[in-house]
Formats: sequence, C-alpha cells, structure tokens
Amino acid sequence: MHEFRYINNKLYCENVSVESLAKQHGTPLYVYSQSTIANHFLTLDKVLEPLPHMVCYAVKANSNAGIIRILANLGSGFDIVSEGELRRVIAAGGDSRTCVFAGVGKSESEIDFALQSGIYAFNVESEPELVRINKLAAARKVQAPIAFRVNPNVDASTHAKITTGTYANKFGIPFEDIEGLYARAKKLKNIKLRGLQMHIGSQLTEVKPFQQAVAKVAPLAKKLAALYGLEFFSIGGGMGIVYQQALESGAASWWETPAAAKVLTPASYASTLLPILKPLGLRLLIEPGRFIVGNAGILVTRVEYVKQVGEKNFAIVDAAMNDLIRPALYDAYHQIVPTTRKSGPEIATDVVGPVCESGDCFCKSRPLTKVQEGDCLAIMSAGAYGFCMASNYNSRPFPAELLVNDKLTSLTRFRQYLPRLWESEKMPRWLKFVRLPDAFS
Ligand code: LLP
Repeated sequence: MHEFRYINNKLYCENVSVESLAKQHGTPLYVYSQSTIANHFLTLDKVLEPLPHMVCYAVKANSNAGIIRILANLGSGFDIVSEGELRRVIAAGGDSRTCVFAGVGKSESEIDFALQSGIYAFNVESEPELVRINKLAAARKVQAPIAFRVNPNVDASTHAKITTGTYANKFGIPFEDIEGLYARAKKLKNIKLRGLQMHIGSQLTEVKPFQQAVAKVAPLAKKLAALYGLEFFSIGGGMGIVYQQALESGAASWWETPAAAKVLTPASYASTLLPILKPLGLRLLIEPGRFIVGNAGILVTRVEYVKQVGEKNFAIVDAAMNDLIRPALYDAYHQIVPTTRKSGPEIATDVVGPVCESGDCFCKSRPLTKVQEGDCLAIMSAGAYGFCMASNYNSRPFPAELLVNDKLTSLTRFRQYLPRLWESEKMPRWLKFVRLPDAFS
C-alpha cells in the first residue's frame, strides 16, 4: 500500500490532493498518511509473528500525539528517551506498561517518574545509572525492572552521527563487562532483571550488521536468561528505509521497490534474524522508529522565489533547515517532487530555504522540472526525524502537522502562533525603562 501517488499528475496522500491541503492550511506543512503508518507497523508485527514479541515504536522519530495514538490503538509498545516522551505517550492514550526507557543520561526526576508510571523496563547504560535506579526504587519501596544495554562493538555501516554500536560511541555497556554487571545487579534488592537490550545504529540498509550483532549477543542472552530468568531480548531499532525512490510508481510499498529489494526488507530482516533468536525462548522486542513513520510523511513547501546566480538555479522555498534539518545535518537525501507534475525540461536546481546559512539547502543541482514562484513541492520521506527535530531558529514558527485518513484530514498540530516564540522570555527588570511591547511587560 503506497499512499503517496500521482493521480492525473496531482500528488495525493491517500485520497486527498496535497495541493488542496497546502491551499487550505498553508505551508510549510507536514502531511502524514495514517494507513501507511498502520501498514508499516502491521507488516513488521506480522513478520515477527513466529516469536512472542512486542514492537516498541521509537517515539523520538515522531512524537505527534495523533501518531502515538494510531500506534497505541494497534497494540504497539513504545521506546522512550525522556520524561517528556513518557508523558506524551500516556497523554496520547498509550500504556506505560509497554514502555521501555532508553538513554545514557536519565535524570533522577525522570527515573522517579518512570518508576511511578510503572514502565516495562529501563534500558540501563552504565553502572552509576544502575545504582541510581536502585536508590530511587528503594525510596519508593518498589523493584525497578531493568535490562542492560549491551554494546556489541559491531559497525552498523551507517552515517557516523547515527551509529551507536561500537566502542567509539557513548552508548551501552561493553560486551565484556555485561556478565559482571548482571551479577552485581542481582544483589541489589530493588532491581528486577527483566531483559537484555542492544541497538547498533539507525538507517541500516543491510541486514548483515544486524545479523552480526544478534549472532554475537544471542549466546550471551541465552546464558543470562538461564542465570537470571530474563523475559526479553530487545534488538533495538535501526531498520533503514528507501529515501532515493520513495515515490516510485507501481510499487505497492516502498520496500517492494527495486532499491529496497537490494537492501533491507521486513522479510529479509525476519528470515535472517528469527532463526538465531528463536532458540533463546525469550520475548523479542524491537524499537523501530524510521521504518514506521519515515515514508509515511512529507513536508510540503511553496516556492517563494526563483533566482539565478551565475550558472546556478535556486528555488527558494518557504520551508527551511529549522523545519527539516536532516539534509543540513547529515547531508541526507530526500526525494523532492512537485505537487503538480508538469511537462518540460529538467534543470539542475538547488532547493533552498530562507534561513541565513548556506547549509539551509534541501538539495543541490537536482534535476527538477522547471519550477515557478507559487509552485508547491513535496519533500518526501520526512515522517521520521522531521518535525521532532525542528527548531525556532531565525524565529521561525513550527510548521503545522496534518494527518490524512482516506478522505478525512485533521490538523494534529496547529502552526505555531508567532507570539508563542517569546512567551516564556522575560525582560530583566533593569531594562524596563524602555517602552516594552505588551508581551514582555
Ligand atoms: N532505539 C534506540 C535506543 C535508538 O537510539 C533509536 C534511534 C531507535 C531505537 C530508533 O531508531 P530507528 O528505527 O528510527 O532507526 N536523527 C537521525 C536518527 C537518530 C536515531 C537515534 N536513535 C536521523 O534523522 O537520521
């Protein structure tokens, strides 16, 4: 089910024209397809069916309440990394008992709130964190369920900024230290050893690093399960998606595109990993973020100006690096397509935003059919790590977010009202001799 497609040269999200959404709600605008999100979750859930399992959606990929609710309704668990994310999950109708809490720097108040909420497990990333959790659990007179995050020292072959499973990274506990730590934790009265966890990186486009890491850690999981009665083994998130031809016509799903078939598909992921995991007899957890929402969202933007500088053609659009930072931060590729397909020659175009930085660029010298002022473009595969990494840089308000369900549409976030940008700022008292605008008084 491919939910962004052209019908009579107009781009549709499910059964709604994207251009009509841009007209009605303005741009920049994130648009998400509900059935694509559901389809991605259910596909993954299905391929894991041979094992008892829980898919824990990584909330950091897109924490919009509407998206959390869709996944909660489908029975998803949640991978959270902060009190804010846990509170969001609860507020959106998710169940705290399905939450696993990751992250290298959990604060005391975050741990305490998670204990109070009754989460499924803390994924513990260091010995001092273990000690802190034990202390806080003792104060509450409860047992904290934990899993240690093992760093298997396997290279995920992905972008340096999103690889996590080697000893050059801050994440997890070295493979060699894990057994000693379980023995230590076993002695702590307020700790309940529930599982083992790992996560080697994000946007993995081959199954091999997963296979290497799982094969390396599985015997350890087996041993620890026998010694301590563990319930689960979480192999983390990280399944990559196709960015290059996300909108290839004719494919039923992005993972059925020729590009995906060469890399990683749900079927190849499951058929490679499940045979290694099955003999463990443990509940399998996975923490996908990008896989579920990445290709389920687009960022719609309008061309403000067209400008030529020497040989170069710039399309200056109303979205910028503050709305979608992935190209600027990771040199990430996002397919860019017009919301109305026109005929005509393609010209090498830089699609850039209005922010005062040269890095504010969505693509460089990309062959695009000539665009004009007022045209709308869709930046594809923006559902994951898009809005949730947005900022107010250049005092630009957060864009709106909209969910489509067949012909229904609903704004799941209003465009930020400009005065909200300075609402929590306070003018120092000694500067008050100047006349103040109302908002600062
Ligand atoms: N589990 C843990 C412990 C993680 O750290 C992450 C992502 C996930 C699961 C979900 O990974 P996914 O399935 O989405 O690959 N901002 C970057 C990606 C950062 C990923 C951080 N951790 C980007 O835009 O590419």
